Amino acid sequence: MTALDYDDLATEYAKHRRPYPGLVEHIVERAGVTSDSTVLEVGCGTANHLAAVRRTTGARCIGVEPSAEMRKQAAEHPEELDLREGFAEELDFPEGTFDLVMSVDMIHYVREPLRYFQRAFAALKPGGHFLTVTDSDWAIRNRIPMARYFPATIEVEFARYQPVPALAGDLALAGFTDLYERMIESTYLLHEATKFEDKSHSCLHLIGDEEFAAGIAALRADLAKGPIEANQRSLALWGRRPL
Ligand SMILES: C[S@@+](CC[C@H](N)C(=O)[O-])C[C@H]1O[C@@H](n2cnc3c(N)ncnc32)[C@H](O)[C@@H]1O
Repeated sequence: MTALDYDDLATEYAKHRRPYPGLVEHIVERAGVTSDSTVLEVGCGTANHLAAVRRTTGARCIGVEPSAEMRKQAAEHPEELDLREGFAEELDFPEGTFDLVMSVDMIHYVREPLRYFQRAFAALKPGGHFLTVTDSDWAIRNRIPMARYFPATIEVEFARYQPVPALAGDLALAGFTDLYERMIESTYLLHEATKFEDKSHSCLHLIGDEEFAAGIAALRADLAKGPIEANQRSLALWGRRPL
């Protein structure tokens, strides 16, 4: 899946994607975001998280996103967002611009994380915070309903998600200190299969048709008996540019 495929996914993505419960609160608290802060989200997509940061804090919020269709959906938020075209590896902001540089579910698309981390480091003010939100191996294996109904997604995800210790190693090489990990978890009751039928998760585009059809059939059969307890787990990996 390349970044450009998100042009085709943008409508379904905007329809189903919502901020992860608890994530924006965690971000605002740990990075100390206020109305005086300047925040960059790299690969902001439809900007659910960025708009929530703006709404919660009043911070100046800039989003970089390669897909024109995702930026178009992002522009629908009532919050004032500065949306720009670009790629993580090509970040080109003046030295010391941001209090926080963050990404959510984007780093697995970056071929050279170290190069991105070095650019983000330079774009941060001294003392500024860096955050990448990703999935750990354990979270990928234990996703419900994804791993239970579409087990082929596990290998697909292992092939594209970098191991968290490798990302942490690259952060340290880029100069970040105060490395810190926090799992943000929640559960919810899944009542219908629509967002899976719509393939709003990119990994469902990367498994075979038969595996997808079998997963949808099993999911529908179980949902016919009642709601399923589903989980959402994201690993927040933080670093800081030293003062
Ligand atoms: C799974 S979506 C996440 C979007 C958003 N952060 C969110 O939480 O809803 C991944 C996004 O990363 C973008 N992307 C892919 N490759 C990228 C790259 N090299 N640099 C920046 N963004 C990229 C995609 O276009 C897509 O919008």
